[in-house]
Amino acid sequence: MKRVPFFHSIAVYSFLGIIVMPVWLLHASSMLTSFKPGKDWMDVDGKKIDCHAGNIVFQEETGTFFWFGEHRGSPAGASCYSSQDLYNWKYRGVALNTGATEGLKGGFIERPKVAYNKKTKKYVMWFHYETSGYGLAHQGVAVCDSAPGPYKFLEHFRPNGNQSRDIGMFSDENGKTYIGYAANRGTSINADIRMVELSEDYLTVTKNDVVTNAHCEGPGVLKWNNKYYLLTSQCKGWTPNPATYYTASEVCATYTDKGSPCIGDTKNTTFDSQPGFIFKIPGYTNGFLYMGDRWNGGGSTNSQYVFLPIIMTSAGKMELRWHNEWKYEDIFTPTPVYERSISDFSTHIYVNAVNNGTLHGYDLLGRDIPYLYQNGTDRTVMNLNRGRMNAALSKGMYLIR
Ligand code: GAL
Repeated sequence: MKRVPFFHSIAVYSFLGIIVMPVWLLHASSMLTSFKPGKDWMDVDGKKIDCHAGNIVFQEETGTFFWFGEHRGSPAGASCYSSQDLYNWKYRGVALNTGATEGLKGGFIERPKVAYNKKTKKYVMWFHYETSGYGLAHQGVAVCDSAPGPYKFLEHFRPNGNQSRDIGMFSDENGKTYIGYAANRGTSINADIRMVELSEDYLTVTKNDVVTNAHCEGPGVLKWNNKYYLLTSQCKGWTPNPATYYTASEVCATYTDKGSPCIGDTKNTTFDSQPGFIFKIPGYTNGFLYMGDRWNGGGSTNSQYVFLPIIMTSAGKMELRWHNEWKYEDIFTPTPVYERSISDFSTHIYVNAVNNGTLHGYDLLGRDIPYLYQNGTDRTVMNLNRGRMNAALSKGMYLIR
């Protein structure tokens, strides 16, 4: 949306003898159209976003992004924000309230991550559950039918008996989801990074749990050209430090050190940030969003976010550069429509007909689209998706008769 110059509002409304700024104009002028790494980031209600070290989930049916993270203000727990464009976020509340949850009271949550399970149709949240002193070293799980919550806490435990502190999450194209976690080696705290596959319902861990000897934290994973890239920080508490990335040909594998991805990072501090997650922006072939936190020496509610583009080079290197301001639309390559994956397309059409026996849906080229339907008492719901539509290319118009 374009900014409306301030003088316009004065010109238009000053004939009333008073200067008024209509609410919609205030809102229009505050719409964000870019990322500004390291700057304070306000939600659509003008409050500082409090959502640290979390992740973003894209809800395909509604085109909505949900951002989860540590709510470091009160009440403590995991917060949720939603957005249609990744720039403008609406606060949706605390999705998991630590102090109000039996089984979590007395401890705290760090690095919450959410994944949507298409089979069970549930949102599943994983997090580092800890008590003072960081000796508990547990992972926790909570679940919800809807993205924003409130999530129902299930349990916390040491995965496969390993101490687990910072966690990351990665969902592969086949729906399999993994937790990367900083684990102990013997009594050496966070001396290893482990990658564990979750069960099909994402509610617990499997035995597919592979170790890499690397003393690191803040794991984020991306997949590029059938290789997996693991980005980590060093273990320096809230102090920013150099990031390192590793690669492997499978997710659950022993990773190989590839050095720092940062270019022009003169202080060698990952541009004063610590990795939290890598979000693959839907609709872009190479849209990898680095989500980092600028803790400013302590995990306060005032910590800023450092969101930067991750560039994957043709030689298979991961690169991270500073931008004072940037737009993903300007940097990443849109996925050609015909290459979009099946999961990029799904939509529901509501038809006012109880008897769907003779109903057909056609796309704009006149092709008959196979669909699944459910009969309601007063209407039919046609579930169209690209898997069944073969060549139907857009989310555009359909003719139902
Ligand atoms: C950091 C870690 C954070 C938090 C912090 C506590 O190294 O990444 O998630 O645990 O230490 O000091």
